[in-house]
Amino acid sequence: MTMATIKVQDLRKEFVTDTSTVVAIENVSFEVGGHEFVSVVGPSGCGKSTLLNILSGIESATRGTVDITEGDRKAKLGYVFQSARLLPWRSVIDNLLFVQSSRGPQVRARCERYLDMVQLSHTAKQYPGQLSGGMQQRVGIARAFSIEPDLLLMDEPFSHLDAITARSLRRELHVMWQETGKTVLFVTHDVSEAVELSTRIIMLAKGGRLVADLPVELPFPRDPASDAVALARADLLRRFESLDLLAT
Ligand SMILES: Nc1ncnc2c1ncn2[C@@H]1O[C@H](COP(=O)(O)OP(=O)(O)O)[C@@H](O)[C@H]1O
Ligand SMILES: [Mg+2]
Repeated sequence: MTMATIKVQDLRKEFVTDTSTVVAIENVSFEVGGHEFVSVVGPSGCGKSTLLNILSGIESATRGTVDITEGDRKAKLGYVFQSARLLPWRSVIDNLLFVQSSRGPQVRARCERYLDMVQLSHTAKQYPGQLSGGMQQRVGIARAFSIEPDLLLMDEPFSHLDAITARSLRRELHVMWQETGKTVLFVTHDVSEAVELSTRIIMLAKGGRLVADLPVELPFPRDPASDAVALARADLLRRFESLDLLAT
């Protein structure tokens, strides 16, 4: 089983435009190791996507270092975005096959297995346009898992879905995380979602500052309607409120 180690040290990211400089990430450090499900939560604009983009190499840092390793090699990353970003002219199974580094019957069997995990085997030969938004997002998740990454980066993957679909996808994701033993870094502005899924929550505040890094010590599966989850959620929201008071 492969699990990534993430080391982020003194990370800073500025976006410089003609008229201003925006600090999106300010002096962020943390380490993640092993079979963790880490959520990064914070209000919109606090630098969550920027952090993920730096981890995945899409953006460069202004200062600081990021190391993502698996043993003594560079870790393999998978990425799930807010929308599925499937290739519309390829069938569902071909969308999974397209991102593989090799071909062959075992590779195809692996793609079929991950499609089955999101309960979409029957759509293998259909095209993305024939599927609902929730189904497309499940294909995107199966595709990310199908390359068997050491670390899965997810940026608000359920935020465009209706509440009922999002809820069942959260359950599926949790099962896949448990079964595959992957490290997941999950960005969300939804505190309830973070409490339901995470073993640990990193809170970012406006200006990209890391303001808390907390374990979530509730047993799985977590019922979002249970008292324990409601208490943890209320505690996190209270922390955010107190931050807002300090800021004004
Ligand atoms: N390419 C960019 N150029 C200029 N500013 C940017 C760029 N990307 C993000 N920002 C700014 O950086 C801040 C953090 O953005 P982002 O990481 O997208 O936040 P979040 O994902 O938490 O909503 C925001 O103020 C945003 O406007
Ligand atoms: Mg974002």
